[in-house]
Order: sequence, then C-alpha cells, then structure tokens
Amino acid sequence: MRAIRYHQVGGPEVLRLEEVPEPVAGPGEVRIRVHAAGVNFADTERRRGLYDAAVPLPRILGSEAAGVVESVGPGVDTAWLGRRVVALATRSYAELTTAPEKELLVLPERVSFEEGAGLLVQGLTAWHLIHTMGRLSVGQSVLIHAAAGGVGLMAVQLAKAVGAKVLGTVSTREKARLARELGADEVILYEEGDVAERVRTLTEGRGVDLVLDSVGANTWQSSLDSLAVFGHLVSYGSASGAPPPVELESLYEKSLKVSAYWLRTYHPPELQRHAREALRAELAEGRLQVRTGLVVDLAEAAEAHRQLEGRGTVGKVVLRMP
Ligand SMILES: NC(=O)c1ccc[n+]([C@@H]2O[C@H](COP(=O)([O-])OP(=O)(O)OC[C@H]3O[C@@H](n4cnc5c(N)ncnc54)[C@H](OP(=O)(O)O)[C@@H]3O)[C@@H](O)[C@H]2O)c1
Repeated sequence: MRAIRYHQVGGPEVLRLEEVPEPVAGPGEVRIRVHAAGVNFADTERRRGLYDAAVPLPRILGSEAAGVVESVGPGVDTAWLGRRVVALATRSYAELTTAPEKELLVLPERVSFEEGAGLLVQGLTAWHLIHTMGRLSVGQSVLIHAAAGGVGLMAVQLAKAVGAKVLGTVSTREKARLARELGADEVILYEEGDVAERVRTLTEGRGVDLVLDSVGANTWQSSLDSLAVFGHLVSYGSASGAPPPVELESLYEKSLKVSAYWLRTYHPPELQRHAREALRAELAEGRLQVRTGLVVDLAEAAEAHRQLEGRGTVGKVVLRMP
C-alpha cells in the first residue's frame, strides 16, 4: 500500500510517499480502508522532532482516520465489516490502517469521510477543554485563541452551545469571518493592539472566566491579563513556542487557576465514551460542523504541513485517498 513516511526529522520535504507492507489487524483490532486522514498540528511537531521524538524512524504519520472496516482481527465482532467508521488511529497517512475496536465510532450517514476525519482529535480536545477542564456554563465567558483553527472552531461551537459568551483571537480577517460564522460573539485580530485590553472592553471591564491557549509563548501574558477574578487558563499547546514558567505569586491578586490538558492522558473510559457519543450526536443532528479548510491528496501531505504550520489554513486539514 502507499503511505506517507519520514526517515529523518526536518521540514515538510522529509515526508515521502512510499510503498510499504500492508498492516494486519491484531487481536481486538480492525483494519480500515482509509478514505480520509486528519492532519493535526501535532503531526508537524512530530515531523520536526519536537514531539514523540523517541518513536523509531522511518515512521508513518497520522492520528485519526475515516474509512470503511475491511477486515477484523481475532476476537472482533464481524458486524463491523463494511461499516463507515472514524477512529483515533496512528499511521493513518496511508491507504490502510488499524485501530482498536473500542476506539471505533460509526460515522453518521450524512457526514462525509472528510468531515469525519476532523471529528476525533480536535473535537475531543475541544470537548474536554470546554467541559472536563473548563466546566463552562451558561452566562460565563471564554477566550479561545486561534479560534479559526481546527480545535478552535470546534471549541467555539461547543462553547456557544453551552450558552457562554465566546471571544476569539485570529490573525486574519478571513479567519475572523469564519469564527464569527460558527458562533464567536467577538473576534480580536492579534495585530489590532493589546488583546487583554480589548477583552476587558468587550466584557465591561470584567475579563473572561476561561481562556483556552494553544499558542503559548506569544499569547501567554495576554491570556493571564484577560482573566476575570477566579478565572481559569487552560494551556493545551505551544504553536508559537513554550510559554514561560508560571509564577505562583502572580496568580494571587485575581485568585487565578492555571492548568494543562493533553488528549493522551488516561481518560476514564466512561468519560471518553460520553464525550465521543456527545460529539457524534451533535454532528449527526447538524448542531456541530467540521469545517474542512484544506483537502488534498495523500501525495500532497508535505504541502498540507507547509500550510498548516505557516498559519495558512482554517478549520480541518485533510488528506484524501485518490
Ligand atoms: N493538548 C492536546 O491534547 C492537543 C490536542 C490537539 C491539538 N493540540 C494543540 O492545539 C493547537 C491547535 O491544533 P490544530 O491541529 O487545531 O491546529 P490549528 O489551530 O488548525 O493551526 C494552528 C493555528 O495556531 C495559530 N498560531 C499562532 N501562532 C502560531 C505559530 N507561531 N505557528 C503556527 N501557528 C500559530 C494559527 O492561527 P492564527 O493564524 O489565527 O493565529 C494557526 O492556524 C496546536 O497547538 C496543537 O498542538 C493539543
């Protein structure tokens, strides 16, 4: 089968389309004929050697796939055969991949493979940021950085569904338009001046209850300055570089909370099932959209990475199998 592999860390050019052996579904696993693979910012960090660096090379990239179950391994219900599914699946930049049966989610009929490929990594992250970590509730306010990105657009929609006031930051007017279209009440362009000052103006001087920060170094201080008293800053990424260490002393004045979220932390199965089902139901009923911004053929994975890390994409980036 064909897959995207890299033999050394580096720029997007290290990604190569190669013929590799087909994977075999092991016990408790299924083999999926991939129709669409989700591209995530973390894939670009893996390729650069900034994340998961201990994994031996060459390596097939990927974290999630949408496709059709083609075969099942020992102990797996054959009813899965032929079903349209999405799954968290490593090595999904490929025509075939494997995933544990317990990770599978049936893709609703009205949802395309491309949209499905954007549901799990970014959707689950956004869901846990809003609900598990942020415990956002009606009438509260949230500031979402990179609001037109993959996780960002999901978080905007989930926060709006809660009944919160949603503020976002983005780098361009086109991104601002999209974030507003999907529910953001106010969108701030970073370049327009002091973000925290704008947040205070837009919240009658109060600040926001929750900040979701995946940008890191460049937004960290404005995130802290944007919080209302008893506010909560959740860090979940560092696209612009690692944020500075947290000075406990600096949190006292407003009694702030700073925390971190990682999708790969052990999540109690019941909680994860609940989150996945909630996302699937929202998607099936049309209340949640996966906006695909860039969809390219598998062979163009390097270009997808170039655009994603160059801040040139909105919503979900997807590789489709031609
Ligand atoms: N903790 C977890 O478990 C978890 C899970 C999934 C994703 N993440 C993190 O969440 C973030 C978003 O992931 P995603 O896949 O949805 O990507 P994305 O948001 O679609 O793309 C990254 C966005 O970050 C913004 N950005 C700001 N400064 C940047 C810089 N110096 N370089 C590149 N981008 C910059 C850009 O939006 P603007 O141009 O509007 O600023 C860019 O479009 C990433 O940091 C990722 O690592 C974490």
